[in-house]
This record gives sequence, structure tokens and C-alpha cells, in this order.
Amino acid sequence: MDIQDVQAALNKLPLGGIRYLPQVGSTNDEAARWIAQSAPNMSLVLTDEQTAGRGRSGRTWIAPAGSSLIFSLILHPQQLGAHLLPRLTALGALAVEETLRNYYDLPAQIKWPNDVLVHRQKVCGVLTEAQWDEDQVKALILGIGINVARQSSIEANRMADESTLPATSLEDLLDRPVDRLYLLGKVLEEIFRWQPRLASQDFLQAWEANLAFRGEWVVINLGDSPGKDGLPRTLERQSPTIEEGKVMGLFQDGSLRLRTAVGEIVKVSVGEIHLRPASQERGITHV
Ligand code: BTN
Repeated sequence: MDIQDVQAALNKLPLGGIRYLPQVGSTNDEAARWIAQSAPNMSLVLTDEQTAGRGRSGRTWIAPAGSSLIFSLILHPQQLGAHLLPRLTALGALAVEETLRNYYDLPAQIKWPNDVLVHRQKVCGVLTEAQWDEDQVKALILGIGINVARQSSIEANRMADESTLPATSLEDLLDRPVDRLYLLGKVLEEIFRWQPRLASQDFLQAWEANLAFRGEWVVINLGDSPGKDGLPRTLERQSPTIEEGKVMGLFQDGSLRLRTAVGEIVKVSVGEIHLRPASQERGITHV
């Protein structure tokens, strides 16, 4: 991958600017630096190798050279609509999910709020971070990592703890090489297609229709605390509270709709889903 290839692959897209760096600590950090130098709306930071990437809940996202598609997109809240900030992570996840379905014929699903799964294995993670100017959101960073080559899923599984789902990669799933720049172009096209419709019912329906674990019992780990804009503050942690429920769908605001064992409908705004272990599966009495 080099900057000429990147520019050629993306030249039809209305990006604000492109920075390609062969190796970075974290593309989200590079995006934050660029924001400090007035990055235009829809600027892209792309790398071939990420050595200190971040995930949610303090996890790391390391991508060996050539193994993954790793990028961050900078968005300006006034162009997005400040009330839509909590939907940004879903925008990234939906764009990846639709790309994998439409262009790779993979049965991708969105694990609320920020992962993309295929066959219940994680292939992509999304991390949205906000840059603040006093108490105003100055810019948003939509960071996306997709496991492309087998080496990326091997690395992810090596770093995994017992709460994370197993990782897979596009090459594990497709058994053929995948062109990362073609993939990037398609994901960005989907982002540009959905972004103007972020507030629409269509967006919510597309997100809900592709939600992983619908109708299944899950355990929610409420380990992340919400930020000022409703986005999880990834570096702040509270002691986790565990809740359980059956995934029913989404509320209008994008929160997760769960039904508890006593039939109560619960709203989950932040947190992470963990599938209930099969050994503790609830019986049909709770349906
Ligand atoms: C997660 O699974 O918890 C989210 C992972 C997000 C990883 C991406 S890779 C590009 C961007 N840069 C980072 O440091 N993190 C995100």
C-alpha cells in the first residue's frame, strides 16, 4: 500500500483529505493530532500497521503490517447534527456489515454497539472518540479495524480475554486474498450513503434488521460509563454491573431493547454484550 494507490482507489469519494502512514501507534491518535491542525470534515487517516491501537474497555487493537484494514475518519459535529453523535458507531458498524454482505456475500451482523460478526466471530471493531473544546464536541473520530489476513485474527485471538468472542478474518472466511483498498472504498461509500440518513427510520431499521443475537439471552457487562454526548468514554471505567436479558431489538434512540426473565423491558444505553454461556442457557419458560 502506498499513497498513490490509496489516492487512486479513493479518488471518486468526497473525502476532506487523506493521510496514509505506513505505521502508527493508533490511527485515532493520528486523527486527533490532525484535528488540532484543523483537519477538514471527512478526512481519512489510514495505516498499514498499528502498534498501539485502542479498543473499547481498555482493550488493545494491534494490527501487524499488511494484515488489516485500519483507518479513522474525522467528522465535524455541525456537519453531522450534534444530536446524532450516539449513532456514529452504528454508522461505522452498519457500513462494514453492508459491505461484507453486498460485496463479499458474507452473513455479517452487528453486535451492539460496535462490533461486526460473521458466524458469531468478530471480524471488525469500531471505536468512536470525541475531541472536546471546553464542553463542546469539536470533532469526532470514527475508528474502524477490519481483520483481513489470517495473521490479524491470530493476533486478535492471542490478545483476547475470556469475555471476548473469537476473532476471524476475511481471508479465514473467504479462503482467498482480499484487496484492502477495494474494501476500504466500499466501506467509505456505505458511510457516505448512510450518513445523510443517520436520523431516518431506514437507518434504524437497517441496524436493527442486522442485529446479532436477536431472540437470544445475553449477559450485559455495563463496564463503560457514558460520556457527555452519550458515547462511551473508553478510558473511564466503573465497576461493572451485570444484567441479563433477551435481545428484542432497538429503541428509537438506538439503545438496546432487552426483555428480562420476568418479562420486563429494559433499555441498555452503553455496555457490552456477552453471549450467555450455553451451560446456563435459560429454558423455554422465559420465552
Ligand atoms: C473494539 O473492538 O473494542 C473497537 C476496536 C477499534 C479499533 C480501531 S482500529 C482503527 C482505530 N484506531 C484505534 O486505535 N482504534 C480504532
